[in-house]
Amino acid sequence: MKLLFCSSNIGKTQEIQYKFGESITIQNLLDIGCTEDIPETADTFAGNALLKARYGYENFNVACFSDDSGLEVTALDNAPGVYSARYAGIPKSDTRNMDKLLFELQGVKNRNACFKTVISYIDSFGNASSFEGKIEGEILEEKRGSQGFGYDPIFLPKGYTKTFAEMNLAEKSNLSHRSIALEKFYSFLLKNS
Ligand code: IMP
Repeated sequence: MKLLFCSSNIGKTQEIQYKFGESITIQNLLDIGCTEDIPETADTFAGNALLKARYGYENFNVACFSDDSGLEVTALDNAPGVYSARYAGIPKSDTRNMDKLLFELQGVKNRNACFKTVISYIDSFGNASSFEGKIEGEILEEKRGSQGFGYDPIFLPKGYTKTFAEMNLAEKSNLSHRSIALEKFYSFLLKNS
């Protein structure tokens, strides 16, 4: 089975392909020559996920899915949230996003945060479904590790001693917000295809 993933994010694509193994082949927008940065104008993860999946379905007329995700930091009233990718402005930069977050949290004791994902799937008949995942953790005072993407070097999942960026794909894939949502999505695909 082949599925279009409505994203150009290579880190996310690798995690999803790893999780699905050989049973499902993921093509992202770059793989099909689409360089569009789909505007994310909704104010919820679910809204943006649906918007990106609809873009894929309407433009390429195939079953497709998208993932909208982000980091919510308790002491910052759940910012950056849906603005996680462009927290420090455009062009998007993981390094500048992390630096801005560390700056905002200087001297702040409550470092609680969580990652959330909503996956939106539109089947070949145009029916939409969604799947959610969440993981709690804390924001460190400095970056650790070089794997992964986004805020991984400063996110320590609750109950673990390694940041997401110190984990390999298999380790992150056992516990991440995206993998929780993907497991729900995968069971849905098995039942419905
Ligand atoms: P999206 O493309 O709008 O869903 O952007 C999500 C943004 O949230 C990414 O660009 C990252 O900055 C952040 N993010 C989402 N998931 C993760 C993750 O697993 N690790 C680190 N950062 C993430």
